[in-house]
Amino acid sequence: MIGIMKPAGLRSVQITGLGKHFPQRKLTNADLEKMVDTSDDWITSRTGMKERYITGPDEPTSSLAIPAARQALANAGVAPEQIDLIIVATVTPDMLFPATACLVQAALGAKRAACFDLEAACPQFIYACAVGSQFIATGTYDCVLVIAADTLSKITNWEDRNTCVLFGDGAGAAVLQPGPEGRGFLSFVLGSDGTQGDLISVPAGGSRCPASPENVANHLNTIHMKGNEVFKFAVRIIPDAVLESLSKAGLGPENIDLLIPHQANLRILEAARKRLALPESKVFVNIEKYGNFSGATCPVALAEAVEQGLVREGSVVVLVTFGAGLTWAACTMRW
Ligand code: ACO
Repeated sequence: MIGIMKPAGLRSVQITGLGKHFPQRKLTNADLEKMVDTSDDWITSRTGMKERYITGPDEPTSSLAIPAARQALANAGVAPEQIDLIIVATVTPDMLFPATACLVQAALGAKRAACFDLEAACPQFIYACAVGSQFIATGTYDCVLVIAADTLSKITNWEDRNTCVLFGDGAGAAVLQPGPEGRGFLSFVLGSDGTQGDLISVPAGGSRCPASPENVANHLNTIHMKGNEVFKFAVRIIPDAVLESLSKAGLGPENIDLLIPHQANLRILEAARKRLALPESKVFVNIEKYGNFSGATCPVALAEAVEQGLVREGSVVVLVTFGAGLTWAACTMRW
C-alpha cells in the first residue's frame, strides 16, 4: 500500500464543485424477482440494496458522464474553456477508443483540455483524484475535471443471480482546483494486488479473449466474481486503508467527521464501521437507492453528503473503496 502526502512547497488541492447523474430507469428488487431466482428479502438482508438505476440501449457511459460534469462545473463556477485536464475513470468506456474523456471534452467544448481515461475498477475515482491532484499541486495545471462514470449493467449477466442483483449505473464528477493551505486533499492511499485478479473479472472482450459470438453466448463478456472472497478482502482492507490514510494526514479515527465508503454491501460497511469504532452517524450510506455503481459511488455519496449538510467547511472526510484488480484506495480531505 502506498501512502501519498503532500510534500512541503506544493499547492493544496481541493474539490470546488461536485455533480452527479443517473439514468431514468429504476430497477427494484421486485423487478429482479421476476428475472432470476431471488427475493427482496435475500437482497435486502444480504446486501442492503433496494433499487438501482439502469441505462437503456441508447445510453452509453458518456451520457451519464456529461451531465454530471456540467453540474460539477456549474457548482464550481468554472467554464469549460478553463479546464486543463479531463480524466474519466471508467471500466465501461463508450468505445475502446477514442477515450470517453475525449467524448466528454467535445460535448462540453473544453477545447484546452488534455484528456484520458483511467481504469482502476471501483477505486478509480480516488485514483483519478490522486493523479489529477499531482498536476495542480506542482503548478502544472490549475483546473482538472475528474469524472467517475460506469454502466455496469452493460457488462452484467442478467441470468446470474450471484451478480446481477448487485450492480447499477451512474456518474459522479468533481472539479479540482488549488485551495488554501491545510484544506482539500491531505493524503491519498493507493493499493493493488494483481495476484488476486481472478476474484473479479470480465474474461472476454479484451485482447486476451476478443469478443466472439461463442464468448458472448457463454457470458464471458460479463462480470465474474467470487463474492465470498471479495467480501473477506473488503472487510479487512477498508479499515486498513482508512487508518493508513488518516495516519498520513497526521490524524486518527477520532478526527473523522464523515466516512464515505464504497457502497458495495451494507454488511461490509457495518463490519468496517465497527472495526473503526465509528458511530452510525459518521458513516454515509445510500446503498439502498443505487446499489453498487462502481467508481461513481464515492463522488455521488460525497455530493449528497454536502447537499445534506453533513459535510461543512473544515470537516474531515475520508473516502475509501476497493474493487477488481484487486485494487483499493482511500483519501483524507479537510473540506
Ligand atoms: N438471491 C438468492 N440467493 C442467492 C443470491 C440471490 N441474488 N445470490 C446468491 N444466492 C445464494 C447462493 O447461491 C448461496 O446458495 P447455496 O448456499 O445454496 O449455495 C447462498 O445464497 C449464499 O451465497 P453466498 O455467496 O455465500 O452469499 P454471501 O452472504 O457471501 O453474499 C454477496 C453474496 C452479496 C455477493 C457477498 O459475498 C458480497 O457482497 N461480496 C462482495 C462483492 C463485492 O463487493 N463486489 C464488488 C466489488 S467490485 C465492484 O465494486 C464493481
